[in-house]
Amino acid sequence: MLSHNYDYAATLAASQKASWKIEDVIQNRTLEFERPFLPEALAGVAGIQCLNAREKLKLNQIRGFSYLYLFAVVEEYIVPAVIEHAGMTPQDDDHELRALLRFAEEEAKHIQLFKWFVAEFQRGFGTLCGGIGPAKQIAAAILNHSRPGVFLATLQIEWMTQRHYIESVKDNAAERLDPLFVSLLRHHWMEESQHAKLDTLIVDKLATGLDPQKIESAIDDYMDIGKLLDGGMAQQVELDLESLQKAIGRVVSADDRAEIRAAQIKAYRWTFLLSGITHPTFDRSLRELSPRGHARVAELAQAIS
Ligand SMILES: [Fe+2]
Ligand SMILES: [Fe+2]
Repeated sequence: MLSHNYDYAATLAASQKASWKIEDVIQNRTLEFERPFLPEALAGVAGIQCLNAREKLKLNQIRGFSYLYLFAVVEEYIVPAVIEHAGMTPQDDDHELRALLRFAEEEAKHIQLFKWFVAEFQRGFGTLCGGIGPAKQIAAAILNHSRPGVFLATLQIEWMTQRHYIESVKDNAAERLDPLFVSLLRHHWMEESQHAKLDTLIVDKLATGLDPQKIESAIDDYMDIGKLLDGGMAQQVELDLESLQKAIGRVVSADDRAEIRAAQIKAYRWTFLLSGITHPTFDRSLRELSPRGHARVAELAQAIS
C-alpha cells in the first residue's frame, strides 16, 4: 500500500551497526551553559524584540530543556505501543520480532537518556523549570486512539527527528551549540532513522485491508493526537514563560509576554508538528494512504502555520 524499499532484516542490521550506549553520548561531559542548546530553527528566539541577548540565550536553554522533557513524555507512549504490536501481530519474517523489540528497547534507552539530560539541566541551570505531565497520563491519552492513528503519529515523530538533527548541523557552525546537546541530537537521529522505516512497515501492515472509512478514521485519530500535543505545547509555553522570568530575574510585561508567547507557539508547532507533517517522506506516505486524508491534514497544517 505504501511505496518504500524497507525490510525488517536490513533495518535490524542497520540498527545493530548504529547502536550506541548512553555513555557514548555523554562521554563524561556536562552541559555548557554559556552556549545555546537548540538550533535557532527550532528554538525561534532570535526575532523576539523584548528580550536582550542574554535573555534569549536563557530562553533557548529553557527550550532545550523542554525539548528533552517533551521527547521523554512522547516516547513514553511509543514503547508500550511497539511492544503491544510486536506481541499481537502475526509476523511476516524471522527478523520482524527482533527488529521491533530493538525498536522498543532503543526508545526505552532514549527515555533514560532524556531523563539524564533533564536532571543535568536542572542541576546546572540555576532556577527550576516546569514541564507538563504526568507523562503516563499523556501517554494513556494518546494510546486511547486506534493503533493505525497512533502509529501514523509515531511515523510523523520519527521523520521530524531526522529533520531536527539536520537543522542542528546546518545551524551549528554559526551558532556554536552546546556539544553535548548536538551529540544527543546526532545519536537520537542515528537510531530514529531505523524507527522511521519500521514505522512505515507497521503503518503499511495495519492499513492493509482497512476499508476507506477506517483509513479516514485512522487519520482522524492521528489529527486528534496532533491536537492533543498542540494543547500540551500551549501549556508548556506558559510554563516556559514562568521559567524565563525566574531565570532572568524580572517580571515581563503583558505585552512582552504576548510577543514571546506568539513566537514560541509558532516555534513549538514547527518543532513538534509541522517539521514532521511537511517532511517529504511522511507527506508521501500520508498521500498514498488517502489523498482525501492528506488534504485534510494539509488544511490543519495550514491553520497552525
Ligand atoms: Fe527516540
Ligand atoms: Fe523513535
